[in-house]
Amino acid sequence: MKGIILAGGSGTRMYPISKVYSKQLTLIYDKPLIYYPLSILMLGGIREVMIISNSETIPLYKKLFEDGSHIGMNISYAVQAAPNGIAESFIIGDKFTGNDSVTLILGDNIFYGKLDFFYNALKNNDGATIFGYRVTDPERYGIVEFDETGKAISLEEKPKMPKSNYAIPGLYVYNNEVVSISKNLKPSERGELEITDVNKEYLNKGKLQVVKIGRGVAWLDTGNPQSLLQASNFFGVIEDRQGLKVACPEEIAYHNKFIDRADFERVIKNMPDSLYRNYLERVLNDEF
Ligand code: TTP
Repeated sequence: MKGIILAGGSGTRMYPISKVYSKQLTLIYDKPLIYYPLSILMLGGIREVMIISNSETIPLYKKLFEDGSHIGMNISYAVQAAPNGIAESFIIGDKFTGNDSVTLILGDNIFYGKLDFFYNALKNNDGATIFGYRVTDPERYGIVEFDETGKAISLEEKPKMPKSNYAIPGLYVYNNEVVSISKNLKPSERGELEITDVNKEYLNKGKLQVVKIGRGVAWLDTGNPQSLLQASNFFGVIEDRQGLKVACPEEIAYHNKFIDRADFERVIKNMPDSLYRNYLERVLNDEF
């Protein structure tokens, strides 16, 4: 299974910072936003990841993660010339995906809680597996409608009159067919290759699973200043209370045995003295 993080976009809701800076590099409490989706892929055991973004931001991601080998990952990078739609990821990542299945996560999507819905999808996917999450403002999202048996029957992108309250989060698990489906898409009226059209194709073939995520999981989509602040507060409260970090890739790499103790020590040694380093030292010394 390969992983793609789509972390470009126009970020218009974040103007003026978006003029000079990528939204996915802004701080969510104590670490850049992109650490959160990267951690989800890592927790799912996905070690080959491609980060797609605009040409100005790719060098910054490279500086942040290099080739990922220090945390037992293989991280590569590709440019999306313009925000032409989420489904363009699979065309850009065509060679990277090769003959594999692929999980896509949007760079501004955060999940917190029991991740079994994701682990099961990785294990059982046969076609496409996407998720449904109850929200109060469905008109802002891709929406899924279920029949009385819980089977998905329709998908709509940002509907004015939503048929349900179930939004589709930016986390999608696909078999390899997603590459050819994406290549055959036509841009929508807003000029984008729509991920909803990819999912509709799977739905029409009877190959789409939509799994509801329960209320014990937080899905935060950090598209505007208010939601960024909410996410920072949310993780600030949890981390300060427990003294444990959420979405710390180095810690996940160590706990999931992507790296051994000596590698972990090396990673820590190469960090400047900081709160982040102090935390990892505590992890190393098994203080939890
Ligand atoms: P959007 O929700 O479309 O938002 P955006 O970040 O482009 O900002 P705005 O709506 O304020 O203009 O994108 C969701 C995520 O996907 C976000 O992390 C950006 C990324 N993205 C791309 O990298 N390329 C694209 O073509 C699209 C549509 C989104």
